[in-house]
Amino acid sequence: MQEPLPKKAFIKTYGCQMNVYDSDRMRDVLAPMGYGEATSVEDADLVILNTCHIREKAVDKVFSELGKLRDLKADRAAEGRLMEIAVAGCVGQAEGSEITRRNKAVDLVLGPQTYHMLPELLARRRATGLAQIETELAVDEKFAGLADKQKPLARGVAAFLTIQEGCDKFCSFCVVPYTRGAEFSRPVEQILTEARKLAQSGVREITILGQNVNAYRGLDAKGQTSSLSKLLIELSSIAGILRLRYTTSHPRDMTEELIEAHATNPKLMPYLHLPVQSGSDRIVKAMNRGHSVSDYLKTIDKMKKTRADMAISGDFIVGFPGETDQDFEDTLSIVREVGYASAYSFKYSQRPGTPAAVRANQVPEAVKNERLYRLQALLNEQTQNFNKACLGKTMPVLLEKPGRRPGQMIGRSPWLQSVHLEIENAAPGRLVDVEIIAVGTNSISGHYKNDSLEGDHIV
Ligand code: 5AD
Ligand code: SF4
Repeated sequence: MQEPLPKKAFIKTYGCQMNVYDSDRMRDVLAPMGYGEATSVEDADLVILNTCHIREKAVDKVFSELGKLRDLKADRAAEGRLMEIAVAGCVGQAEGSEITRRNKAVDLVLGPQTYHMLPELLARRRATGLAQIETELAVDEKFAGLADKQKPLARGVAAFLTIQEGCDKFCSFCVVPYTRGAEFSRPVEQILTEARKLAQSGVREITILGQNVNAYRGLDAKGQTSSLSKLLIELSSIAGILRLRYTTSHPRDMTEELIEAHATNPKLMPYLHLPVQSGSDRIVKAMNRGHSVSDYLKTIDKMKKTRADMAISGDFIVGFPGETDQDFEDTLSIVREVGYASAYSFKYSQRPGTPAAVRANQVPEAVKNERLYRLQALLNEQTQNFNKACLGKTMPVLLEKPGRRPGQMIGRSPWLQSVHLEIENAAPGRLVDVEIIAVGTNSISGHYKNDSLEGDHIV
């Protein structure tokens, strides 16, 4: 008799880095069930879409992908093979049974806090023949459930680690407080255990994640409330961890202690993602951000004084309800003042259930398009300038993977730039000093000089 073929799962990830982390956790849960990784939906027995609800476009993409999967599933069934389809993530949370109503091919719908239940839900689906929908928001159970299962698969040199989920800030444009629920911080020991496992599996750079990562206030072993800066100290003492980053921060939670950590902790990279969304006080207020534009600029100033090589990245929304030409000019002027190394910018998208969605003063699409075009032109120019300013500098680069040419490696700079260099017999995970000699559109390249000292120093 022929052995049954091993099962394969394909997870397609949309949206933010927290979803990238969650997709890896789902892989960890599926591995002991006998699922290997499929290279495409075509050879998968289980397809999971890990979805994003933040903007309308992201949601549309999910429904159109589900339409294609329904056809594929029918073709497979005609060949006598089963393909199961799951919708995970924030669309699952927000739309729930609406998904299975619109698309009968979907077998499971899971919210972002129920991934540890995947085996149980698949079993229930098979036993009952009914689509299963699980969208509880019990985030502590999620992490506890995943921690038991966890034998992280090798993830390469750089990895994400979620320490905080959910949001209590309620910016008037944002669905996150509804889809990811209230702010929850994982306990310190659970995070350190996970970080040690990552280090043992070869990870050298950890980016700790949270919707409001700098609002972290998990409990330590003594039952005391910790902070992000304290956690960073503990993480930096783990053997093998050479670099730490954290994202996304809220300007309101950039404490003096955290800013100071950038001066005292050499493993903390000189790069901060700190979204302001708009440069107009009127709009920032209407967005319910809870700080002024000048508060934001003061924080940026402190960061730059703390470390002269500090680079800033951000997020912007254009065309928020009521945004005038002058408000938009204020955004351009704050961008010029800060000088971003990189930034994400979006057209405002009306999200159901959020306060701004029902405001009468919506901005016409054509105006949004024009503003986005102008803002992105300025931000792209700033990224190019940032890269050009690296010419002739020597910087520590963490090697990640071989490049396309023999002898070539690709690594990452302290400022998240992709760096190409020629180096013989170099293994991923090595930290080397590189002199930058050329700047491209999406990467920079240079010469290997020597191995860096552990702890990442800036020359
Ligand atoms: N429309 C456009 N952009 C949004 N973001 C969040 N909600 C919306 C929305 N309704 C952007 C913000 C946030 C980033 C993750 O997504 O800039 O910082
Ligand atoms: Fe959304 Fe604002 Fe919370 Fe960020 S801080 S997740 S933008 S509500």
